[in-house]
Amino acid sequence: DGGSWPPVRRLADWDASRLRSLADAFETPLYVLDLDRARANYRRLAAAFPDAEIAYAAKANGLVDLLRVLCADGATIECASAGEVYRAREAGIPGDLIRYTAVNPPERDLEYVVDAWREDPTLTITAGAWDTVRRLAELGYGGRLCLRVTPGVGAGHHAAVRTGGDATFGLPADRLVETARDAVDRGLDLVGLHAHVGSGVLDADQRAAHRRFVARVADLVTEVCDATGSLDLVSVGGGFGVPYRSDETPLALDALANATRAALADVDARLSIEPGRYLVADAGVLLTEANTVKETPTTRVVGVDAGMTTLLRPALYDASHAVRPLAPDAPDRETISQTVSGPVCESADLICADRSFPRVERGELLAVGNAGAYGYEMTSTYNARPRPATVVVDGSDARLARRRESLSDLARLEVATGREVVE
Ligand code: LLP
Repeated sequence: DGGSWPPVRRLADWDASRLRSLADAFETPLYVLDLDRARANYRRLAAAFPDAEIAYAAKANGLVDLLRVLCADGATIECASAGEVYRAREAGIPGDLIRYTAVNPPERDLEYVVDAWREDPTLTITAGAWDTVRRLAELGYGGRLCLRVTPGVGAGHHAAVRTGGDATFGLPADRLVETARDAVDRGLDLVGLHAHVGSGVLDADQRAAHRRFVARVADLVTEVCDATGSLDLVSVGGGFGVPYRSDETPLALDALANATRAALADVDARLSIEPGRYLVADAGVLLTEANTVKETPTTRVVGVDAGMTTLLRPALYDASHAVRPLAPDAPDRETISQTVSGPVCESADLICADRSFPRVERGELLAVGNAGAYGYEMTSTYNARPRPATVVVDGSDARLARRRESLSDLARLEVATGREVVE
């Protein structure tokens, strides 16, 4: 029962001695993902939206174990690429639980997903451009289709993720009805309308923008239904935020759910939501070890083995992730300003800058909070840094879910000079 779980799990709530033993057993940098916490987040969201379909946005964290756990609780899976559809199918998830949202899809993505649909015609595709509808029809797709529309209202934690206002992601509203008619004429099974406001909706202003966004979607659903008949599904996307900084408060979930329902009161279609971050952010931590400590005139620099290739969000969005030293006596140590930086030769390679927390010494462990969403998924091998391992914690069990990349993995895809000559 999700109600008995607090809405937010802070980094301080993780058991430091368990994290230390995971780091000892699996080495650092290490992602730890707590499946019970993801389940609790799912159940809390499902309780707030009791009649809605919950399509988990796998881009936040596509680990197969996690997809299976969420599906077992009733989730469907929203996939942003052929690769995510592939992973969902590898996880054994059936077509009726797969939603593929095509954003400027390469032909090989469409071909892969249309083939998957031939094998399992219950799969649903969401198209955000007239071109995509036409290309799907040309590939012989006659299955379930949602149309994604740009509602003209965006909200989120950073300009880069307020996609609802951005023409890249969806049909312009004034092309929607025409495209819906065209899709039906081409033999596609138009089942729904889709829109996504952006990512990281948290405070009152953003919730107000979300309300305006849903109201806009409601109007557009009515326009489409008037033109082409009833729809099964109206997806208002994801975007449910979580607090990262200590001065942020948890999302007022019930208020958001009530406002969403109220705005859709006249819509006769099942509500679908697509949470990513909300389900997994606080289910994950990143463990890293300090290998270098250096005093400077302005701060103390703690050099660690995780950085922008392990957790990109601070470098890319200036995102703030809680940092906690895991030494057993850390709570008794003096609190000083420290900068935690990674092993990549770029000034952006920071976990945090000038942050006050108990002094860290070389060789000690740090935990980085809210790393379960958009953490591993945004890793890279820049500077030829192998990707970290992931450990899944499930009750009292802990198991390796994804091994650490090795140096030889880094060269695996390279075509050695001289072995294959391009004419
Ligand atoms: N549905 C669609 C169509 C989306 O594009 C996204 C996220 C979601 C659902 C899930 O959004 P969520 O509930 O997680 O906010 N890398 C960024 C976040 C990018 C989100 C992109 N789209 C970050 O680390 O903040």
